[in-house]
Amino acid sequence: MSDRRQGGAGSSAAPIGEDLLARIGGTPLLGLRRLGRGLAPDVAVYLKAEWLNPGGSVKDRPVLRMIEDAERDGRLRRGKTLLDATSGNAGIAYAMIGAAKGYPVTLVMPGHVSEERKRTVAAFGAEVVYSDPLEGSDGAILAARDLERADPDRYFRPDQYANPSNWRAHYDTTGPEILTQTRGRISHFVAGLGTSGTLVGTGRRLKEENPKVEVVAVEPDEPAHGIEGLKHMATAIRPAIYDERVHDRKIAIRTEAAYAMTRRLAREEGMFVGASTGAALVAALAVAETLRHGVVVAIGCDAGGRYFSTPLWSGRAPI
Ligand SMILES: Cc1ncc(COP(=O)(O)O)c(C=O)c1O
Repeated sequence: MSDRRQGGAGSSAAPIGEDLLARIGGTPLLGLRRLGRGLAPDVAVYLKAEWLNPGGSVKDRPVLRMIEDAERDGRLRRGKTLLDATSGNAGIAYAMIGAAKGYPVTLVMPGHVSEERKRTVAAFGAEVVYSDPLEGSDGAILAARDLERADPDRYFRPDQYANPSNWRAHYDTTGPEILTQTRGRISHFVAGLGTSGTLVGTGRRLKEENPKVEVVAVEPDEPAHGIEGLKHMATAIRPAIYDERVHDRKIAIRTEAAYAMTRRLAREEGMFVGASTGAALVAALAVAETLRHGVVVAIGCDAGGRYFSTPLWSGRAPI
């Protein structure tokens, strides 16, 4: 499928404008102005601003890669419907990229995902099937499998939890970008665990280039938490792409600590992001506080406007 077509007058002149999907990746690495105060002079913490992707999250990269790898090897053809389980951001990426490329999209989401996410995927024209909120993202995975089994010819289910194109997107793009942006000086990489694609792909690449880079995984401190996008691995279905050898350590974060940091990011840095970014920054600052020299990079996963209807921004005083 020709998906990099540009608009234009049909002349041989160079095309004007850019393709939306070509804007995925290449996100900036942002320094902190205030929240890093108090760290040793030779220690810096940066956020990789994945919320500035066209779909507003880190999931644009793996979803584009899973789709384009499947187009290349024939698993995805015109007429097929994209189907996957998603807690939200991957769904928005599927819906956006499906619309741009002309594929119908069906998403299975736990019933409790934020209203903003439900409305966003609907705006892109995706069909949504809701799974039992009490079963969380695992219930959505099982429901998507059932839908595919019932009509295998209709669907292409990339299965982001088991698809190596997920982590490879980060291995080939996020990792090299961070190496270039830090001029190879990154010492610590911090990312939350959802499908684990971000941590596994980026962490693998960074360690291959420099085995001294320390990779830190972030997860909620309990199974029932409010940090959308992150999994409590010990009690969740283990994603097939998850490889715990990639991280050197794991830091557990309380939901309230993640929320408090997310609010501070908006008020003190001007960065309007979701709670999994706050969680990653709590962990990144905890790591940075122990260092005398270092460059700590945390992933900023998605934009804050996705959570207006959740307790993160529901009008309670900042903690
Ligand atoms: C808000 C948010 N944070 C973090 C993650 C985790 O990323 P990954 O699936 O690459 O582990 C996700 C994934 O869906 C997410 O939506």
